[in-house]
Amino acid sequence: MPVIKFYKHDPIPMEMHKVKIVQQLHLLPARERLEKMKKAGYNTFQLHNGDIFMDMLTDSGVNAMSDNMQAAMLRADDAYAGSETFYRMNDKLTDIFGMKYLLPTHQGRACENILAEHFVKPGNCIIMNYHFTTSKAHITRLGGHVEELVKDEGLIAQSTLPFKGNIDLDKIEKCIEKEGADNIPYMRLEAGTNLIGGQPLSYENMKAATEITRKHGILNLLDASLLQDNLYFIKTREESMKDKSIREITRMIADLFDIIYFSARKFGFARGGGILVREEQMFHDMEDLIPMYEGYLTYGGMSVKEMEAMIEGFEESMDMDVISQGPQFIQYCVDQLDAYGVPMITPGGGLGAHVDASQVVGHIPQEEYPAGALTAALYICGGIRGMERGTLSEERNPDGSERLASMELLRLAFPRRVFTLSQTEYVIDRVKWLYDHRELIGGLRFTHEPKTLRFFTGLLEPVSDWPEKLLEAYIAEFGEDQ
Ligand code: F0G
Repeated sequence: MPVIKFYKHDPIPMEMHKVKIVQQLHLLPARERLEKMKKAGYNTFQLHNGDIFMDMLTDSGVNAMSDNMQAAMLRADDAYAGSETFYRMNDKLTDIFGMKYLLPTHQGRACENILAEHFVKPGNCIIMNYHFTTSKAHITRLGGHVEELVKDEGLIAQSTLPFKGNIDLDKIEKCIEKEGADNIPYMRLEAGTNLIGGQPLSYENMKAATEITRKHGILNLLDASLLQDNLYFIKTREESMKDKSIREITRMIADLFDIIYFSARKFGFARGGGILVREEQMFHDMEDLIPMYEGYLTYGGMSVKEMEAMIEGFEESMDMDVISQGPQFIQYCVDQLDAYGVPMITPGGGLGAHVDASQVVGHIPQEEYPAGALTAALYICGGIRGMERGTLSEERNPDGSERLASMELLRLAFPRRVFTLSQTEYVIDRVKWLYDHRELIGGLRFTHEPKTLRFFTGLLEPVSDWPEKLLEAYIAEFGEDQ
């Protein structure tokens, strides 16, 4: 466990790596940032990366690679069919998860497409602890619906509970009774619940939940995209697991599931994805879909170089020194802001630090996207790109009314091994400033609203001239060149 002791300093999270390649950053002056934000339709997805100082949009495909990952890329075996790289990847995953069959895909949502195409029929119900945007979109596209059965406590923003991603066992039983087991092709448990603050599940909860569904003949799927953070939390927060190695915990978890899929843009620190299947027949039943949607069965739309890098990345994900850094930086950021009084999702989870926009800008109605507005404001006031995770990330109800999100979050992702502690301090400082000027922030409305996954490409405008007023206050504090 990399908690380095200091002589005359409180413990701080420590980078257990050194920097070997860097990318130069630029901080545009605030006035220019406001112009960029207007051009981007107040949607941080629409910003150009060169106009961003700290890119905390996501941890997807933007994690730093290690020297060993880069070195492995050189031995990539290019072949349309039968690439040796694929067999190395399959072997590594089988070694870690104990599942024999691998269907490669170009990224996580492609796994969700394949799984939904194969399993979901109109009217079906899919049980989840919590949905993720793309996992739900593929299911509803095919006429299925999602039941989110996270325990009620998972949606309480400030808490000391260690496993707020846990699924409610009673709710599972009731859901099966209501829907009928035949109408539920699978339960999907998401390690490190993305949309509710990267909150983990305990091993005990996964075990109990999968026992219930198995008893009813329902398949168990694990979305392992954020598993590395969840592994860290199980080891550090679940008493009965503290003496087990990360490798042992991983295998114990894997043994509970029939299928495990992942985005290797997160799990594996590279770019790609895969579905691991336990049963041979089930694998054959799905394999036709890979050449149809992804690419041939031994690359699935991925670059073989990325596959080689992720093989190393999977191995590094079994190293506590490596997987500790993200959660420790996140907890540090959460603790500092929490101590200042900024409402944060507590305890800190994986993926990123989450600011509770429903409390910070509670004066903005949910229909005017408080989390989206706060996210836009932080780019103007600091050049920091976060991501809205709230009502803007939902889709409208069939009658056109807004589906109000249960949480309104500004997510500040910590890509792994990318940012230093001084950069983290800068972010903390700018969020504090914004918090003290929160009454200046106003709402947003759509000028262009796509029907599905509108948060990616939608364009918005402020409901008043609040961005100009916020900018003037910022410049009065920090000057024209910051
Ligand atoms: N499942 C989870 C839990 C995810 O966090 C993501 C992606 C996916 C599936 C889809 O994987 O992006 O490779 O297609 N989350 C990213 C994010 C996009 O920024 O949170 P993908």
